[in-house]
Amino acid sequence: MATIGLFYGSSLGNTETVAEKIRDLLEGHSVEMHDIAAVTKDSFAEYDYLILGIPTWDYGQIQSDWGEFWQELGTVDFSGKLVALFGLGDQFGYADYFLDAMGMLHDVVIEQGGAVVGYWPIKGYEFEESKALTEDGKEFVGLAIDEDQQPELTDERVEAWVAQIEDEFDF
Ligand SMILES: Cc1cc2nc3c(=O)[nH]c(=O)nc-3n(C[C@H](O)[C@H](O)[C@H](O)COP(=O)(O)O)c2cc1C
Repeated sequence: MATIGLFYGSSLGNTETVAEKIRDLLEGHSVEMHDIAAVTKDSFAEYDYLILGIPTWDYGQIQSDWGEFWQELGTVDFSGKLVALFGLGDQFGYADYFLDAMGMLHDVVIEQGGAVVGYWPIKGYEFEESKALTEDGKEFVGLAIDEDQQPELTDERVEAWVAQIEDEFDF
């Protein structure tokens, strides 16, 4: 059985709640949850499979606990690891910055040698700009959750994405 490290930062609890839903759906796997506010770079070393959750705050900024860890994050060796990302944002309130932080986190993981799975179609979302898009603009670089505008879609999105990453993680 593979052990998955699930790292998240959350200012008001939404990302933490989604992290718990993901953990609960990954029954049959061992999932260890880590609040990014309480980790070091060594915390990542023991996992071949990672799930990283980040909300965007303050017009395209990374969430504050991720922000405090950001410099150290740039020294984490993600090579040989499969990484799935999920991001929370508000597509109407911050339409020009939707999920930007997930895009910035994706860039760091790629720069540090990680392989990313769990890309997610943009269909069903309305926004102007996002730094969390793939090059062709057809997908987000991870699961997109909007608890502000589309909370009724969260459960079905999380369920579909967890099934997808279970497949893509290829345990
Ligand atoms: C002051 C403020 C700024 C925000 N800025 C953005 C933003 O730039 N882009 C975005 O997609 N969402 C933005 N959001 C929405 C949050 O990402 C969203 O509410 C998220 O669910 C919060 O997650 P958390 O409770 O885990 O911190 C903002 C929310 C607030 C209150």
